[in-house]
Amino acid sequence: MLKMKRLALALCCFSLLAATAAAQDSMSGGQIMNKSLYERLGGEAALKGVVDDVVARAAADTRINAKFGKTDIPRLKFHLVKQLCAVTGGPCKDIKRTQEKIHHNLKITSGEFDAFVEDLVATLDKFNVPAPEKTELLGILGSLKSKVVEVPDSSATGTPLPDNFKPAKPLPPEKMTAEKLMDKKDQGMKKKP
Ligand code: HEM
Repeated sequence: MLKMKRLALALCCFSLLAATAAAQDSMSGGQIMNKSLYERLGGEAALKGVVDDVVARAAADTRINAKFGKTDIPRLKFHLVKQLCAVTGGPCKDIKRTQEKIHHNLKITSGEFDAFVEDLVATLDKFNVPAPEKTELLGILGSLKSKVVEVPDSSATGTPLPDNFKPAKPLPPEKMTAEKLMDKKDQGMKKKP
């Protein structure tokens, strides 16, 4: 009888331990699942690395580099990091200007958008971004295609920058600090293009 009681007690303790371990597993699993894409990509430093690399690729890519001919590159990089930070769930507020306004009159074709995505894929591969994060990020950016592209029926690349395109004004360095990147007040984005 005593043996039976001991066995029952042992079984009971084992079940309790197993239940606790399972709960811990699902908790730590839950925490992993709850990590934002921003965190999983590696945060601000990783996004800066990605933006530096993809902008360098775009600048060297004759399929799209004409479009950047009048652009202030430090401003472009700063706002790209800020926007990527915001859309991946990071601690930044998304930039105020819409994609349509930002890209207005650049006359970007569907083919040029795809060329830019190819450059981005090369960058993500260079940094060994895992497949799930890569897919998630490309999904988010792909959903913006219709807002960026003004010539959707064309697969042409290397089309010129329209002569009357007016680039956004350069930002002073004090408006492009790490602090301003996280600033919820959306610095420097109030002026119209
Ligand atoms: C989903 C894809 C894209 C996103 C999220 C994106 C985002 C941005 C952002 C945040 C800016 C900075 C705006 C500012 O400083 O005010 C910008 C500017 C710019 N983007 Fe994009 N972009 C995308 C695709 C493209 C593509 C495919 C091209 C060309 C092939 C392009 C060409 C440009 C140019 C030339 C500027 C500078 C405009 C200026 O000088 O005022 N973008 N983009």
